[in-house]
Amino acid sequence: MSENRRFLLMRRPEGTPEEIDFALQSSEIPAPPPGGIVVRNRFASLDPAQRGWMDDAESYMPPIPLGDPVRATTVGVVHASDNPDFAVGQWVMGLNALEDYSVASPGGFTMPIDADAVASPSNYLSALGAVGLTAYFGLLEVAQPQAGETLLVSGAAGAVGSAVGQIGKIKGCRVVGIAGGPEKCRRLIDDYGFDAAIDYKGKDHEALVEAIAEAAPDGANMVFENVGGPVMEAEVFNLAHHARIVLCGLISEYNAPEKVGLRNLWQVLARRATIHGFLIADYAERFAEGGAQMAQWLAEGKLRMDEDVQKGLENAYPAFMRLFTGANTGKLVLKIA
Ligand SMILES: NC(=O)c1ccc[n+]([C@@H]2O[C@H](COP(=O)([O-])OP(=O)(O)OC[C@H]3O[C@@H](n4cnc5c(N)ncnc54)[C@H](OP(=O)(O)O)[C@@H]3O)[C@@H](O)[C@H]2O)c1
Repeated sequence: MSENRRFLLMRRPEGTPEEIDFALQSSEIPAPPPGGIVVRNRFASLDPAQRGWMDDAESYMPPIPLGDPVRATTVGVVHASDNPDFAVGQWVMGLNALEDYSVASPGGFTMPIDADAVASPSNYLSALGAVGLTAYFGLLEVAQPQAGETLLVSGAAGAVGSAVGQIGKIKGCRVVGIAGGPEKCRRLIDDYGFDAAIDYKGKDHEALVEAIAEAAPDGANMVFENVGGPVMEAEVFNLAHHARIVLCGLISEYNAPEKVGLRNLWQVLARRATIHGFLIADYAERFAEGGAQMAQWLAEGKLRMDEDVQKGLENAYPAFMRLFTGANTGKLVLKIA
């Protein structure tokens, strides 16, 4: 490869991203800056959060500048190095971009990974990456599950949700998942060991409230929220008193031109529930601890994380959109090389 293909953000999407919001352009392979490295990206994480970074809106990270490649966590191999701590050929992960080669400057978030210790280096973007650790710290640190409690998970068949449910089972909870379609609901039970699965598609508010009530007759002690919108509005009618809601994501709103929010917040008040906003970045210093536990559960067969690996930078747009159509079956990853 003699060029650096880069998947650039050319226009801020209005609502659902369109292919013309992006462009694949080539430039020269960069040289490492003083003390930095150049990474040959092999796999990139495709995450719902990237949609938020495309907006010119205040958030926990600055917007992706127009004309820049779409920011992404990647795993790859050091291609060129001006840093004695990173040898050429070393596997690393870091916050880079959807491009063949990324420059990682000193002080940025880049760390070595042991590619021989895993089935595929992409595992560092799924079970052993931010997604797995989101499930781990979001559930264990924020919700603090107790055996016998009921855990309700939305976006349950996805990367974060499936791991949350399985960790809930490890901790002795009754786990109820909400996902789109019968096949995803089957997987919740057969592949991830959930106790009950609810298909939210085709259900109006009353039907969804009723379905959750049937699956969680004593109410949910914990809600792990990945979706928001109508799903969350049905969940809050099924809270146990003093329920803990981990607000992890609101994917149903990411492409919505107007944010709806939770229209029945009164239910949260009436049940003395707590809503706790969660960001995995706050646990960066404990990633090694969480990663070790996730790796152990994987090795013991107590945890499974499926990966949906799409191929080619030229397919970045259709691959990314799988998150919003629900086509992804597990952690969505783009194989770059
Ligand atoms: N706070 C943090 O630090 C943090 C870190 C990582 C991820 N997250 C959040 O966690 C959530 C899940 O992320 P993930 O990476 O694991 O993605 P994912 O669940 O693997 O994939 C996204 C899924 O969301 C569902 N979805 C999409 N549009 C929807 C809609 N309008 N209504 C209901 N469901 C919809 C689809 O599943 P169905 O087919 O079931 O609809 C889709 O497969 C996202 O909200 C993400 O932003 C937060």
